[in-house]
Amino acid sequence: NGTKDLTGQDWVITAGPTMEAIDPVRYISNHSSGKMGFALAQAAQLRGANVTLISGPVNLPAPNGVNLITIKSADDMLAACQQAMTNQADVFIGAAAVADFKMKAINHQKMKKQSNADEMQLTLVKNPDIIATLASQKGAKYIVGFAAETQDVIHYAKDKLARKGLDMIIANDVSRTDIGFNQDQNQVTVLTKEQTWSSELATKNQLAIQLVEHIHTHFKSTLSK
Ligand code: C5P
Repeated sequence: NGTKDLTGQDWVITAGPTMEAIDPVRYISNHSSGKMGFALAQAAQLRGANVTLISGPVNLPAPNGVNLITIKSADDMLAACQQAMTNQADVFIGAAAVADFKMKAINHQKMKKQSNADEMQLTLVKNPDIIATLASQKGAKYIVGFAAETQDVIHYAKDKLARKGLDMIIANDVSRTDIGFNQDQNQVTVLTKEQTWSSELATKNQLAIQLVEHIHTHFKSTLSK
């Protein structure tokens, strides 16, 4: 509707996959397209918010008027988020598909194929949980996560909301091939401690507009408490 009612607010949004180096030519990553995070960034910007979008490697144009920062690894994404939130942000949305694990030690030379070995092992260690770290540091006044699940979607999403200390979680069922990863459409359930709302099936751009509205409304209601 063209209203710029988010003017003066700082929103920080993560998007896309992270890319964890194995050696100079190889990496571990996932199929996240970044579409949902980019659509949220554009929707918030169009309502007047000052938006910083921190994204892993994706094939999407930068949204108009958004400060886009591109990174590769989860460690770099966390550092960029903390940098973007040196002055506490109003809203943080973690829409990135962060790799759970990274190499314990990145090989500085290309790993060689051992001609006598049929197996090889990589030792991985846990990545930082970016959104949980920011929530514990109160990096933003209102923190929104995503939960991509293949079963018991609402149950696991509620668990994540509490465990990561989030204000809102947006759950979607990634076992469905018509929505979610790499698709243009999505259908989600939004959960806060008090409320549940399920969206219709919609394009990620349409959904982003609705989600920004929900986030803004809930954020405002926490401020007046
Ligand atoms: O991977 P998981 O299902 O726990 O992701 C749920 C939420 O946590 C998402 O919003 C995701 O962006 C965020 N996350 C994160 N850092 C991680 C793992 C997940 O910020 N290392």
